[in-house]
Formats: sequence, C-alpha cells, structure tokens
Amino acid sequence: MPTDAAQLTLAQKASLVTGSSFWSTQPIPDAGVASVTMTDGPHGVRRQQQGTDHLGLHHAEPATCFPPAVAVGSSWSAEVAARVGAALAVESRALGVGVLLGPGINIKRSPLGGRNFEYYSEDPLLSGELASAYVRALQAGGVGASLKHFAANDQETDRMTISSDVDERTLREVHLSAFERVVTDAAPATVMCSYNRINGVYASENHWLLTEVLREEWGYEGAVVSDWGAVRDRVRSLEAGLDLAMPGPQGLQAQAIVDAVESGRLDVAVVDRAAERVLGLQRWQPDAASAFDVDAHHELARELAAECAVLLRNDGEVLPLAGGSRILVTGEFAIDPRYQGGGSSHVNATRVDAPFEGIEAFGAARGCEVRFERGFDSADTATADALRDAAVAAAAEADVAIVFAGNPESEESEGFDRTRLELAAEQVLLIREVAAAAPRTVVVLANGGVVSLEGWHDEVDAILEGFLLGQGGGHALAELLFGVVSPSGRLAETIPLRLEDTPSHLTFPGEQGHVRYAEGVMVGYRHYTTVGAPVRYPFGHGLGYTRFATSDVVVTATGPDAIAVEVTVANVGELAGKHVVQLYLHTDAGPVRRPARVLAAFTKVALDPGTSTRVRLELDRRVLAYWDVELHRFVVATGDYTVQLCADAVTVLDQATIALEGDGIVAGLTLQSTVGEWIAHPVAGPEIVNALMALSAAAGSQAQAADIDLSAGIPDIVGLMPMVQLVHLSGGGLDGDHLLALAAGPALPHPSA
Ligand code: BGC
Repeated sequence: MPTDAAQLTLAQKASLVTGSSFWSTQPIPDAGVASVTMTDGPHGVRRQQQGTDHLGLHHAEPATCFPPAVAVGSSWSAEVAARVGAALAVESRALGVGVLLGPGINIKRSPLGGRNFEYYSEDPLLSGELASAYVRALQAGGVGASLKHFAANDQETDRMTISSDVDERTLREVHLSAFERVVTDAAPATVMCSYNRINGVYASENHWLLTEVLREEWGYEGAVVSDWGAVRDRVRSLEAGLDLAMPGPQGLQAQAIVDAVESGRLDVAVVDRAAERVLGLQRWQPDAASAFDVDAHHELARELAAECAVLLRNDGEVLPLAGGSRILVTGEFAIDPRYQGGGSSHVNATRVDAPFEGIEAFGAARGCEVRFERGFDSADTATADALRDAAVAAAAEADVAIVFAGNPESEESEGFDRTRLELAAEQVLLIREVAAAAPRTVVVLANGGVVSLEGWHDEVDAILEGFLLGQGGGHALAELLFGVVSPSGRLAETIPLRLEDTPSHLTFPGEQGHVRYAEGVMVGYRHYTTVGAPVRYPFGHGLGYTRFATSDVVVTATGPDAIAVEVTVANVGELAGKHVVQLYLHTDAGPVRRPARVLAAFTKVALDPGTSTRVRLELDRRVLAYWDVELHRFVVATGDYTVQLCADAVTVLDQATIALEGDGIVAGLTLQSTVGEWIAHPVAGPEIVNALMALSAAAGSQAQAADIDLSAGIPDIVGLMPMVQLVHLSGGGLDGDHLLALAAGPALPHPSA
C-alpha cells in the first residue's frame, strides 16, 4: 500500500480525487489502493446495491432508522447522539460502508427549512456538542463520518445555486461555530462542502472556507468531499481545497486535472495534497461483513426515541394516561406513522412501530379500552368530513382522546422548503372538534420542523411533540403516554406564535439568487429573548412526570476567559426521570451587540425520586467570546458576565455575575475611532481626559471652537466624535501620532485562539 501520493502517476492521482462510482472512490489495485465506500446517513444506513441516487428513490438494503437529528437534538443528550453513532458504525460495517454521510449540522435559520429534520438545532453549541458525540462514537466504531453541509446551507430553495450572504461575525458565531466545534473536538474523517455559494463563491470553490478557515485556522487534517454533484470546475475546486469530488463516474473531471497540470495551469503539488488526503480515507475500510442484530437495534431505536419526544403541555396532569380509561386514538399517523423525512437520508427501515399498536398493548395491560378512528386522510381530503364526524362521535364516548397530527411526508423533504407553519386545515378541525367532544384531549405531533399550535393549543389538555422519532417511535410514544418512561426532551428550536415573528422571515428564502442573513447573530431564541418577543414555547422548554429542583449554584472564574459552574440537582417528584441543566450567558462586554442570552453549557442527568447530584459544568472560551470584525478573531472582552441557570431560554431560575479579565485587548484604535473608544483605552484614555480637561478649563475663559464642558462627564457629542476631529480641534493639545503609539496594545494571539 502506498504511503504517499508520490508513488502514483498523475493520471492515478487525478482519478483518486474524483469518485469512481456513485458511492465509491477509485481503487488502484496495482498500487494497493482499495475503493472506499460512502453512503447516506445520517440516522440510518442507506446502502444501495443496484440502482443509485441521492434522492432516496431507489431501493436500499434494510437498516435501522434511528431517530433523525431533529429528535436527537430534542434529547439534549450527548449520550443519545453517541449511541446512535455507535450503532450506525455496526450497521455500516455490516453493510460494507466505510464512511457514513452524516451528521448534518446546519443551523435551523427558519422553521420552514426543508431539511430541518436532518439538523439538530437553532443553537450551534447544542448542535456541535451532539454532533461531536455522534462523530466520536461512529469513528470509534471504525466508520468515518462526513460533517455536512459546509456551510450556510440552511434552505432547500435554490440550494444548488443560492448565495448565502452572511457577515463574518454571524458566520463565525453562528453558522460556522458548530462545524468548528466538531472539527476541533472530534476530527471527522471527511467534511462535505455544500452546494450553495457563500457571499457569492460556491462552497466547492471557496478557498477562504475550505482552506483558510477549515485547515489553516481549525487545523483540519481529513478530506473535504463535495456534496453529490456540487463541483462545477474541478480544477478551481481542487485549488480551493476540495479533495474528493463525488459522485463518479469521473467523466471529464479527472482528465481536466491532468490537462491543467500538463499545461502548467495547475501545480501538481495541489493534486498531490488532495490525493494524499483521499489516501487517508483508506483506513475507513469495513472489516469482513457480519450481520447486525436487527432486534437489538430496533429495541435501541425505541429506547432512544423515548428520550427525544418533548412534552409541551400537560394540563391537569392528563398524562400519563390512567389505567382503566376508555381511550380514543385518532389520526392517520397513529397507524401509519411519520418517523423520518424524505430525500437522501430516507432509510429502508427494518420494521416500524405504529403508535396505535403500542397504545393497544400498554392499554390492555392496564385495563383500558382502546379504539381507533382514522380522523383524516392526507391523501384523500374529500373524506375529511365523514372521517372527522366518526372520530368526534367516538370521542364523546371516551374518557380521553389522543389525536395524532402532523405534517405528511409530501410536505417535508429534502429538495424544497415548507411554505407554511400550520397543520392541514382538516387536522386542525379534527383536533378542535374532538377536543370539544372528549372530556380530555391529548395531541401527539409528528413533524420534521416545528408547526404552529395556534388556533387549537388552548383547547387541548396535553401536547406531546414527537417530531420524527425513527422506526421505534411508535412504541416509544406509547411508553411516554402511559408513563412507562417520563418525557425528558427539550425543544432544540423555538415554537413561534407566528411565522411573521421569526427572525429570518423577511429574507427567507431570498430573491434573485441571494439570501441575506439580515438577522445576523440573532437566530432563533437569540432574537426572541433580545427583543422580548413572546413565543408559544421557547427553546429549551419541556415537561416531565416528575419534578426537579436546582440549588446551590456556585459560579467561579477559573481563568481570565473561563468560568466553572456547580449546581445541585434533585429529583423531588415521585418518579424516576431525567433533567436537563441549562446554563445561559448574558453579557454586554465588548463593542458588539450581544444576544440577551446564549446557551453556554448543558448536561442531562438521570435521577431516581428522592436523590440528588452535584453537577459541574465548564463554560469554554468560545461561549464567552464575540467575533471581532476589526481584529478578525474571537475576543473575550474585559467585563461582567452573568451566568443564568434557566428552565428554558426565557425562564431564569438563578443567576450570578462575575467579572472577567478577558483577553485584555483594546485594539483596533485608529484616529477614526470615537473619542469614547479612545477614552476606554487604559493607557491613552487618561491622557486624553487630561487634555480635554485642560481644553475645557481654557474654554471657560476664552470661547473655544469645541465648547467643551466636562463638568458632567464626557458629553456624547464629544464621545461619539472621531478622534481625528478632536485632534484638529485641540489646536495642538492632542497629538495624533503620539496617541497611536500609546494605543499600540499587546501583541495579538493567533486568530483561532
Ligand atoms: C445531499 C447530501 C447527501 C448526498 C448523497 C445530496 O443531495 O445534499 O446530504 O449525502 O446527496 O446522497
């Protein structure tokens, strides 16, 4: 086996960096190079043996459909993410796959994003932590990951061509942040570049993104692979840092590389470098195929799904369902569940649990009478009235009605965005009429992206948001409804009151080939909490059947740019359960507008009733920092930082403020900086104030152009003036060159620090 690309001919190297078939790289048997097989991902193995496609159309081998990312995000559990990754490694190896194309970690910028079900959250810390756990576990199991879609690929509309126009701070703090976390924490085997353009440049040809940021700043050493068909100009993409163009066959791409080198347009070292990185994928060869345990993995899919659903509302503790009740189950998703999204991630599930079967079985064991009425048929709306009438009549005979509602797959898939938040009209009508007829009503939702609860929320007693739970979701929902397991999911995305309230509303999905990320860093809850806008349910919200108390919060500065927090969590209810400790950070430190609060750390703890535990969480530097557009680096500003222990992004339970020294950098001062900014400088500031005092005193006797009165501090009219003006006005009292010398601060560390 060759150890480096130098042992290969130019033609061999060119073929190596361009896919051989739809799912595999080029083998070079003479040189001992084997083909590497990749396949989708992310929540199940979509292994195609004959017909191939990247749309989820052709047959794939049966595999377990684990909870998709939308559900894992709602688990807020790195352990859940890791167990999915570990199980996928076993199935990938059994199906002959070396690299699994996942996880997807784009940020849910709009609730309408067509692939939101494949992404974890609207928050980069939550997405990054879960994805890192998944990648580490998958790769520990011998299968390479592919972190996708790099980057700012947050919509399906025009996804192959749209330019995501995003300012640098927003990219760094929000849209690149989760990628950076996973790259630096978990070293994924590959990073998949997206189809779209970023600020006008295709991701596949974006040298800044693929080389300067990913490699030079973050130190990435794996291979960059294109999304399927994302390469337009192979030579340009190679130069930008794209190592492997997928899929094959190679057509003219490999030849284009050879021609470019031979004509002197392309440095062969660029080809060598990419070939070397593709050779690095050789280590991801599945061992001799062995079958995976279908039953055990189905059980695992059930167990994990039960940790993902979010109990949004539970008035009068209608849940868990009481033994001996007469239960009406209605809604087509109870027997024909929605458990995954459409497109390239679509798994041919080994089996699928229908919620109704589980409810029947658990109900029978508890002396319940359970019946089913379809209620609606998404494929045939002409039957709506008759189906609804039958369900409403049955609801009147029941003690409790459970309505299974949600989005049909035809409305949620890769390839297009959603156009509305509301459930279909016939479902809303069904919920309302059933709720009016039944003594108690529970709604169970199945949807890949959040749906509006308006128009019916107040009429029902409980809402269990299942999102898409994978093939074990039906059984898991039944367990949750009957209290076999206490719900412990939390929203990983805000449920807004209105689509119009969402921060990206005015610009999503863009126009004339551009989508402007005008909301900046104020994505999701960052926006709602900053402007104080009401939402239906905030990020982080979720109920359970037991109660937890948190106490004795201790916040300590563990360095100039690090904070540690300790808190005691106790289960003070009657049942075993899991609690998510959520810490947020508020600060006004630094020269940029910060969101009112950002998620700073979290962990999930399992506790039996009557027990407690002490939890310690570290807030890493990146959470405290802002991206400084003048310094082109993350900076932890000197100032006060308030750590908030929250029940969700809106509800603060406890808080403590500490001062941090930060990076001690007051940099970027020029004579165009304001007088106020200069005065904040520890060395130059006092000197300027003295000079201003002198000018003010002089102005007292002879009218001065500046008319400076400092008796009540520095007035804004002066503080907001560019320093250059004050230098001129001072008539020699202030010297520009001298000030610039004073402002030359300490040497700056590397931008990625
Ligand atoms: C999707 C990727 C997927 C690839 C291969 C593309 O269309 O965007 O997520 O991994 O196809 O199926």
